[in-house]
Amino acid sequence: MNEPERARPGMMNEQQRARLESIKRTWQQKREITESLGRIKNKIAVYSGKGGVGKTTIAVGIAVTLARQGFKVGIFDADIDCPNVTKLMGLTNRPEVKDNRFYPPEKHGVKVISMSFFQEREDEAIIWRGPMVHNAINQFLQMTEWGELDYLIVDLPPGTSDAPLTIMQTLPLDGFIIVTTPQALAKMDALRSLNMVRKMNLKVIGVVENFSGDVFGYGAGEDLAMEAAVHFLGRLEMRKDYRQREDEPAPVHSSAVRREFEALLSRALPTLETLKQGVQQKLGE
Ligand SMILES: Nc1ncnc2c1ncn2[C@@H]1O[C@H](COP(=O)(O)OP(=O)(O)O)[C@@H](O)[C@H]1O
Ligand SMILES: [Mg+2]
Repeated sequence: MNEPERARPGMMNEQQRARLESIKRTWQQKREITESLGRIKNKIAVYSGKGGVGKTTIAVGIAVTLARQGFKVGIFDADIDCPNVTKLMGLTNRPEVKDNRFYPPEKHGVKVISMSFFQEREDEAIIWRGPMVHNAINQFLQMTEWGELDYLIVDLPPGTSDAPLTIMQTLPLDGFIIVTTPQALAKMDALRSLNMVRKMNLKVIGVVENFSGDVFGYGAGEDLAMEAAVHFLGRLEMRKDYRQREDEPAPVHSSAVRREFEALLSRALPTLETLKQGVQQKLGE
């Protein structure tokens, strides 16, 4: 048996060398992520404790409405398990890959990067463990060439488990839009996610209530905003407009939905600005 390599003064053993290499790699990755995200002015996440509350619909609605207002917009579909932004956008193109960089395809004026681009089949289940999620997210962030963007909207996975946590730690998000439905139980879940954002020392822009109307009622969104002392950004009524065309975001063809998203943004964007100024002041202290 070989004798284990002993550390001599001034010399590194294998273990130390490997550790140094790994630190160098992480450092390099961090630098590349910072560079890739460097020309994005605002990064907004859409988040909630539950699936099926309309996160993707809202992330896409916000992105498309901002693009119609003349902003440069991208959307990052970070829902690893159910990446369906591309479906909702009706996007069939894949990113171009050149010199190890991803160039996101564009639809309705929005650049899109999604975990679904790397699925073989649409119905394929994606079951990834924590470290793999971490690596995939890092690689996406490292390799995507967003160019200059006013807003990057991030569609987060639901819940308070590993996957959203990883993304919150990796992507420097400026603020979170929390989604709830009008029922009391949904409010509890949304409150959990709101508290997680705060625990991570990140900022909540406000709460949106989705599926408001005769079927599910009204109110949980406003209650939650009041309880958590954050802004209520508005309601999105439950409408058939979302079903009208399966592969086109509703704000593109429905003026009623468009007006709701415009109202939502007219409250969210100034709040985001105020939050960012607060952070800058703190850094400057
Ligand atoms: N306000 C609404 N009115 C009617 N249908 C909606 C509304 N918001 C979302 N939906 C529909 O509900 C379903 C789930 O929405 P989705 O955005 O995929 O939720 P999540 O991303 O939270 O899982 C989709 O079929 C979507 O079209
Ligand atoms: Mg979704």
